[in-house]
Amino acid sequence: MNIQTARRTKPLMPGFGVEIFDVDIATADQRTLADVVSTFHRHGAIVLRGQTLDQPAQLAFTRLFGEPEDNARKEYCDPAYPQIYVISNKTVNGKPIGDPAAGLGWHTDNSYSKLPALCTMLHALDVPPEGSDTLLSDLCAVWDALPAERQRALDGLVLHHSYVALAEKKKQPLTDELRANYPDVFHPLVRRHPTDGRKALWVSTGTVRGVVGMPNPEGVDLINELVAFATQEQFIYRHKWQVGDVLIWDNRCTLHRGTPFDTVNHIRHVHRTWVRGDAPV
Ligand SMILES: [Fe+2]
Repeated sequence: MNIQTARRTKPLMPGFGVEIFDVDIATADQRTLADVVSTFHRHGAIVLRGQTLDQPAQLAFTRLFGEPEDNARKEYCDPAYPQIYVISNKTVNGKPIGDPAAGLGWHTDNSYSKLPALCTMLHALDVPPEGSDTLLSDLCAVWDALPAERQRALDGLVLHHSYVALAEKKKQPLTDELRANYPDVFHPLVRRHPTDGRKALWVSTGTVRGVVGMPNPEGVDLINELVAFATQEQFIYRHKWQVGDVLIWDNRCTLHRGTPFDTVNHIRHVHRTWVRGDAPV
């Protein structure tokens, strides 16, 4: 029997994402895990609930998708496992142990790099009763929903991405080392998925300075218009977190953001890993 048909799954929403049941990542055999990875590459996002992964186990699982990527902001990395980025509002001895407010605006991860993150994996260790949802936009559905004439006008445009622009907007520390490590980069607005060639409207905010060859505010206005189009309700999957969830999304064809929660009375604690990607085409 084909193992893919034997596995119990459910779409996260019509045509996008898959929840995979009955897999315990920490103890699953290689064939099962290969099936999980293959499902990810075809569906934009996967969810596996009820997982218990310590840092080495999460890194081992991450390596099945590719090379774990480093993080720009070292202050929030797990000291023993620097490729694990800690998202948390917990403090220990008065010091924050993680990034208390990661990713509240619509974006795609690591788009300020030449090789943006292929995928992002979040593993929830502690979740508040409300809020801190993760929203994913299906950028292939977004592209398909554009009229053919608009697709022709947009295909071929190039966006100017900048770590410096992002850090300045978010008032994050900007060292000479960060400037040197993250020079401005240029990526296509329309991106082809390497698995099957499907196209995505690969727009973003935060890191984007504008559109190459288009003066601002025209370029920025176009980006804002496209982001508003791409983040309409019909394109969005909203992940409601439970402790033990593993959510992995494909940055090559999605846009995402978090939502706020009551950080005074509740704790969110998440381990994030990134996988190094290819140059967007
Ligand atoms: Fe993000």
